Amino acid sequence: ESWPRLAGLDADYMAKQLHDIKEGSREAPTMMPFVNMLDDQQIADVSAYYSQLPATQGDGGDVDEAVLARGEQLALRGDWDEYIVSCKSCHGPGNQGVGSTFPGIAGQHAGYIENQLRAWQEGRRANDPQNLMGAIAQRMSDEDITAVAAWLATQPATDE
Ligand code: HEC
Repeated sequence: ESWPRLAGLDADYMAKQLHDIKEGSREAPTMMPFVNMLDDQQIADVSAYYSQLPATQGDGGDVDEAVLARGEQLALRGDWDEYIVSCKSCHGPGNQGVGSTFPGIAGQHAGYIENQLRAWQEGRRANDPQNLMGAIAQRMSDEDITAVAAWLATQPATDE
């Protein structure tokens, strides 16, 4: 699953992403033709619509316990030897998101999380405030990316 779950995402966060795709700081070739048709009001409307849908659960795929344990470590505690701050320190308790700046990533599809981290590594996505995500993605190995994505996908998207 390399498509994101949109239901339950913060409306302002989603609107920012759509504007970023339109302006090119977030590359999303499959989204481009659609986003280009939307004006500001339609972006606000479609974002509001998705934000009100109940969040659905992502799919972590088939990975073994050791990989999940590494993913959990990165997500909740980080890895100081690698200068990787825990995901939770920005994405909030349960990695369920904080306000409109830090999106919920728990319960997101593993393939989508992986793709985003690689996009930051490769400079295809450069729309995050102060390059916060770019800096983290740079420090992550392929194995770490797979592990954290798989573990996050198994976590509940909301407390409700
Ligand atoms: C220093 C703060 C910070 C830390 C730590 C952090 N993130 Fe982020 N993350 C952000 C911000 C800010 C955004 C929103 C970027 C934007 O506006 O496009 C984001 C966005 C994301 C997204 C995109 C979600 C979407 O739907 O667009 C993913 C995936 C992600 N982060 C994964 C992670 C993972 C995995 C970790 C831990 C290894 C992590 N982040 C740690 C700040 C952080």
